[in-house]
Amino acid sequence: MSGERRLRWPRWKPATIRGQLTFQYTVLFSVILLIAAGLLFGILHFIIYWNIDNELQDEANRVKQYVQIEHHKPVLAFNAGAADQNNSLNTIFRIAQISDAQGELIKQSPVLTVLGFSLRPSQLKRILAERATFYTWGAPRAEEIRFANAVIYGPQGHPYLLQIGTRLKPINDALDTFLWVLLMLLPVTIAFSAAGGWVMAARTLKPVADMTHAAQSITATNLGRRLPTRGRGDELDELAATFNAMFSRLEESFQRMREFSANVSHELRTPLQAMQGETELALVSQSSMAEYRRVLESNLEEIDRLNRMIRNLLVLAQADAGEYQPRMESMDLNELVRDLVEQMQVVASARELQLRTYTAAPVPVRADGLRLRQMMLNLIDNALKYTPAGGWVEVRVERRNSAAQVQVRDSGIGISAEDLPHIFERFYRADKSRTRDGRADGCGLGLPIVKWVAEIHGGSVEVCSVPGEGSSFLVRLPLAGAA
Ligand SMILES: Nc1ncnc2c1ncn2[C@@H]1O[C@H](COP(=O)(O)OP(=O)(O)OP(=O)(O)O)[C@@H](O)[C@H]1O
Ligand SMILES: [Mg+2]
Repeated sequence: MSGERRLRWPRWKPATIRGQLTFQYTVLFSVILLIAAGLLFGILHFIIYWNIDNELQDEANRVKQYVQIEHHKPVLAFNAGAADQNNSLNTIFRIAQISDAQGELIKQSPVLTVLGFSLRPSQLKRILAERATFYTWGAPRAEEIRFANAVIYGPQGHPYLLQIGTRLKPINDALDTFLWVLLMLLPVTIAFSAAGGWVMAARTLKPVADMTHAAQSITATNLGRRLPTRGRGDELDELAATFNAMFSRLEESFQRMREFSANVSHELRTPLQAMQGETELALVSQSSMAEYRRVLESNLEEIDRLNRMIRNLLVLAQADAGEYQPRMESMDLNELVRDLVEQMQVVASARELQLRTYTAAPVPVRADGLRLRQMMLNLIDNALKYTPAGGWVEVRVERRNSAAQVQVRDSGIGISAEDLPHIFERFYRADKSRTRDGRADGCGLGLPIVKWVAEIHGGSVEVCSVPGEGSSFLVRLPLAGAA
């Protein structure tokens, strides 16, 4: 057993951000307030005592001049006629005492006698030894007296302790009251700040609440809605903009998905209906063996086409899911193209077309051989399919600027300017080539696959075409070894 157990403080966290903001703000504010109140009280205390001590020190120094010790007795030597000296000394002497170094009390103001103030000889010795300038006598606290100490010397140079005091009660009372007021105000202030924080947090978070409501109302069926932005360009606007961009992307892909399923159902339904119609007719009309054969052959063609389409759809579905892992291997693009062209010669001659290839030095590429073949096959198939008898198709492989290039050109029907931007879209077929012998031939998935294959290899496809004169597809792939 590891046995080590850590004690943790229970951590309480409010459930909402509004609560958290208020809580944190209130805690911080309370701490600052407490520190400020403590500092304020401390400074006030210090200043008041500093003033009292200064005052007492002044008085003690003043009195020292008028007190002399004769025969162990203090004698006042001052001008009794001078009203100012008389008054101030009378005030000062209200709390004063003189004692000798042995601790014997020589003279004491009546107030001190009544209060029972006395210094033990040890205390007195300590004051004299330490030359302590101030001393607080404090029993009970309400009757605390602060003394300034001064040393007077008798005729033989004996030291005597002169103490001038003032009562601390009014000051202590004032400080106590101040502290009480402070302590009473603290919770009130903290409560107000918490309430203020709560309101402020709500105001700050209102746009978030608005956004939440707006976002709740957005569903798959109304993805066109957007979150409101306030045009302030702050973090929340940025958040709303980010969400809106996400909604736009979602809307787009939903739209694509919808179109895609509509297209797929259409592409599947039409040939299936045609096959059903033909088969039913053949069965009902008790046709000849030759007619059955014709229907079966035609159905087989259709089934073949559907098969191809489903295979292509599967490839594209994999591509969409990002699941396809290309199996890259080093190969010579020249060789691959030469092989393919050789295979396709049969188709070309059946359609009375010239299929040529121009290949020179090896063009090394790292590619997924299966997909690359599929891409080239789709391009050559198109070229052969959309070129009328008597035309030509040429495939040129070369290396240019550290890229491998394959160009598939034909002298075919070409692609109109309106169709050109769309031919790489799924299920897109230019109208004029939509049918061959009254039947759809191909389903518009060839070029989207070409584009995808080029992209997974880090390459690109370009097309240029002049209607009636021919088309040219240019695929660029990175050369093997080039970064
Ligand atoms: N070489 C070409 N000449 C003329 N038009 C072309 C050529 N290549 C493609 N197109 C046009 O672009 C459209 C899309 O081509 P894509 O290969 O994607 O579909 P498809 O050939 O009709 O069907 P699939 O390839 O799925 O059998 C074609 O229907 C055709 O109209
Ligand atoms: Mg095609």
